[in-house]
This record gives sequence, C-alpha cells and structure tokens, in this order.
Amino acid sequence: MDSCLIFSGNSNKNLAENICKYLNKEIGKINIYRFKDGEICVKIEENVRGKDVFVIQSTCPPVNENLMELLIILDALRRASSKRITAVLPYFGYARQDRKDQPRVPITAKLIANLIVSAGANRILTMDLHAPQIQGFFDIPVDHLFAAPIVISYLEEKVFDKLVVVAPDVGGVKMARAFAKRLDASLAIVDKRRESPDKVEVTHVIGEVKGKKVIIVDDMISTGNTIIEAADILIKGGAIEVYGCASHAVFSEDTIEKLNNSNLKEIIITNTIPHLSLPPKFKILSVSSLLGEAIKRIHLETSISSLFI
Ligand code: R5P
Repeated sequence: MDSCLIFSGNSNKNLAENICKYLNKEIGKINIYRFKDGEICVKIEENVRGKDVFVIQSTCPPVNENLMELLIILDALRRASSKRITAVLPYFGYARQDRKDQPRVPITAKLIANLIVSAGANRILTMDLHAPQIQGFFDIPVDHLFAAPIVISYLEEKVFDKLVVVAPDVGGVKMARAFAKRLDASLAIVDKRRESPDKVEVTHVIGEVKGKKVIIVDDMISTGNTIIEAADILIKGGAIEVYGCASHAVFSEDTIEKLNNSNLKEIIITNTIPHLSLPPKFKILSVSSLLGEAIKRIHLETSISSLFI
C-alpha cells in the first residue's frame, strides 16, 4: 500500500481517518482553505506524481460546498500528475434526481457524474447509490458497495423471531428483499406516494405484519417523513416493534427530533455522513473497514466481489 495516497475533503474527516487507520496509513497532506468571498482553494502538500490516489468525500450537506471541494481537489490531483485518481464517495448526493419524471427538469445525478469525471476522477468507489443504474452515468469504472453486510451482522446479533422486512416504497423492494433473504424473514411493502419533495402520503401495507417485529430498510433518511409514516402505519397494522435502518443519514434540520419522538424503536444508520451526537435511540455502524478493504483491493487490483456478501 506504500505507492497509494489517501486524501480527504472536509465532509467526513472522521470516516477518512478511520479508513486510514484500517489501512495503517497516514492521511495525505492537503490544505483546503477559503478566500474571503467563499471560493475554495486547495493545495496538495505532498508529491503525487505517478501515484495511485484516493480522495474521500461524501457529497452530503452542505452538499454544494462538499461537491465543489471534491471537484477542486480532483483538479489539483490531476494537474499534479497523479497516475490514477479514485473518487471515494461514501454518500453520492443529488442521486434522487436521476431521471426526467416531469417536463423541463434536469437529470442532476448525470450532471454531477459528468462534473466528477471532467474534474479528474478515473474511478469511483461508492456505496448504496439511490438507484444502482447511476453507475452507468459514469463512463469510468464504478465499484458500488452495499452497507448491508454490516447492517445485517448487527441485526443478526439481535436475534429476532417472527421478523418482517419492510420496503417503505416500491423503489426499495429490491433492497428489502435482499435483507429479508439474509435474515430469513418475510417481506412487506408500504404503499407510499410522494406529493412534494418534503411530503409523503402512506396509505396501506402490502403483506402481513400483525404480531410481528418489523425492520424498515431504506437507502437514506432525509426529512424522516417516509420512515416515520411507514412506522405509524405498521404499528396501526399490528406490528409489535418497528426498527428503521438506512445507509445514509442525510438528516435535515428537525429530522433527529422527529425520529426520536417517533414510533421507531431504534434507528440504525451508518457513518457515510457524519453526526456528532445522537440520542440513544440511534445506532451508528461504521463502514470504514469495508471502504478501507475496497480501497486496498482496488489498489492491489484484486477482486472486491467478496465484499458484497
Ligand atoms: C426515496 O425514494 C428514498 O429511498 C427515501 O425513502 C427517501 O429519500 C427518504 O426521504 P425522507 O426521509 O425525506 O422521506
């Protein structure tokens, strides 16, 4: 691993440090500062010429700041003659705008993919994309990891019986089915309609949840409305305990309080997005060893497929 270098933007330094700890490496020296008007300035403080370089940056809130920082770091690394640059995006923001679902709207996920490639990325390492097809928005290799192995190991320790895994909407069925298979649980689906970006309507549950313990799985929690409304309807339908889990905690201002006061017994998230202090109802699982192992294998050019299990 000596000939590879790992840099981090400001979005999730703690995760980057833990990835480096896993790899037994020092984090690369970089100076990121801002001009008085807010422009970002980057200086790579060590030689990267001919090196295999990784840049860790989640494009989480403040999304535009973190994205711009990533693009500028990539540009600096490319112009400093790095041999290969992998953008490590534990959370890829703007992924929800992945298709034209009404006239005159952009496909922002594709725009962001273009920007990242134009800035200098030669490969992408990411996790739980909102839609797996986003891999195809990049015309460079994409390694797409899942937090599922880590979340499932945690859930297995809890030893549930009569368990049902619930998809909070039709888009989440594939993910929920994979969890249900691994946990030997049955599957249910909540019928959710999104009325506006911040408003959802949940009407009924497809599947049997009465007298069962239930785990809702989703790729992300943002306002919390989806998972909270799903929990409410599941409790109404007779579920005895409802757990929520999501790979990306893209919380907005009042999400933590809303989740804390909700019907959810526990909320299981990962550290793809940093959260300093959360109430005891939240369990944060670390994905640093998974990302670290993937970085190691990409650098050593060995297979990463066993990391999906
Ligand atoms: C939707 O398709 C996603 O998988 C999530 O369910 C959604 O983005 C969660 O958003 P919120 O927490 O704002 O309801």
